[in-house]
Amino acid sequence: LATIDVDVSAIEAGMSVTAKWRGKPVFIRNRTEAEVEEAKEVPMAELKDPLARNENLASDVPAEDISRSAGEGKENWIVMIGSCTHLGCVPLGQAGDFGGWFCPCHGSHYDTAGRIRKGPAPENLLIPHFEFISDTVIRIG
Ligand code: FES
Repeated sequence: LATIDVDVSAIEAGMSVTAKWRGKPVFIRNRTEAEVEEAKEVPMAELKDPLARNENLASDVPAEDISRSAGEGKENWIVMIGSCTHLGCVPLGQAGDFGGWFCPCHGSHYDTAGRIRKGPAPENLLIPHFEFISDTVIRIG
């Protein structure tokens, strides 16, 4: 399917689901306030990949938390392709040294904004094109 619609109304803060889109896993996480705050406080200079890697934004937008999230007023939501940017394994959620995702294949650690922080992966997890088509439904693709 070119696009999929995912009802996120049952995903409470701190929880996530994995949808399937074009044969790939897509992580949708409703981040807690603490997770958002943690991601916001990370100095840009500490990021291995300084770019947002968000297909909804220009390619040179920096990897600030707001640009990794679903945007103003929806900063709690993060939607990403669940494919490690090293060699494509599927990272595990709520894991790793930065509380985000951990790829067990070769040990890449992503933070709560899906940004690569440690390990061999070169880029932040990719954010696909998506939009909220209502308060509770996300259209991916
Ligand atoms: Fe994820 Fe190598 S594929 S660390």
